[in-house]
Amino acid sequence: MKALSRRAIAMALGASAVMAGSAATAQDKVVNLYSARHYQTDEKLYEGFTKLTGIKVNRIEGKEDEIIERIRNEGANSPADVMITVDMGRIWKAEQAGLLAPVKSAVLDQRVPANLRDPEGKWFGFSTRARVLIYAKDKLQPAQVARYEDIASPNFKGKVCARSGGHVYNLSLLSAIIATQGEEKAEAWAKGVVANMGRPPQGGDTDQIKAVAAGQCDVAISNSYYFARIVNSTKDEDKALAAKVAIMFPNQADRGTHVNVSGGGLVKTAPNKESAIKYLEYLVSDEAQRYFANGNNEYPVAEVKTNNAALEGWGAFKMDQVNIGALGRNQAKAQAIFDKVGWK
Ligand SMILES: [Fe+2]
Repeated sequence: MKALSRRAIAMALGASAVMAGSAATAQDKVVNLYSARHYQTDEKLYEGFTKLTGIKVNRIEGKEDEIIERIRNEGANSPADVMITVDMGRIWKAEQAGLLAPVKSAVLDQRVPANLRDPEGKWFGFSTRARVLIYAKDKLQPAQVARYEDIASPNFKGKVCARSGGHVYNLSLLSAIIATQGEEKAEAWAKGVVANMGRPPQGGDTDQIKAVAAGQCDVAISNSYYFARIVNSTKDEDKALAAKVAIMFPNQADRGTHVNVSGGGLVKTAPNKESAIKYLEYLVSDEAQRYFANGNNEYPVAEVKTNNAALEGWGAFKMDQVNIGALGRNQAKAQAIFDKVGWK
């Protein structure tokens, strides 16, 4: 009941909480964050915001699909103010379910590059991850894996490792290829990669990197942060792994490397809308961008230098400029192509 009456106040106030100073202040002391990120270092993202604004961050963590389901099930009574998850394919699910509300914010529009946010402001990317190629240094020259297209060529028969085609990271990569190259070329690419696989798709991205180091494949597809984690590790086994393989940011001479995001937005039924927008804006501040990106070895979306040795060592790269909304829109087409070509 208490929650309901608080909601009633919030609804009466609407978006313009400024109209009723004290009630708005009481309303705005907290922001309820539903997050699919579970990184220790993300703690600083909550503490930093509270220190700056006095607004407490209540966190509800869950798996990517769980938090979307939970907000959906809670319906109009959901306490959720902000939803954060990883990969555009999942942000898209939340958008499609009608869970996100547009936010007009000069701060967010200025700090988040246009290709990494919804033109209507329903979602924003807060950090990026590149989908890169990891190759065996003793078997390949960088020029041989300079493009995603290379690993679909017959030269690579039996030499490619990749995780399942049903996984959102690969669905998003293929969605980007559909967006920039068209469905026909995307299908030919997927077909070519399947024909080149050194083993059936299995495991996560780190397993693909390990398979390359172990000589099972010459090249694998992986998100950049998995390799950054290995490069930054002080463990001997990781050092041995990092010594055997190298990273390639594909398609630097043409459309750029496919990137995805950790991101999210304002929940449509947010009871603490003002705080929620403040929190979203905080996430693009210099301070938060560093925490946000470093928490998972991702790249900040704003131009901020990180203190991440792996990322700084690799330097800047050209990213595919297609609006990542296309990655969401093309998920079903991508799945259909993977099914057709047998990328299990
Ligand atoms: Fe991941």
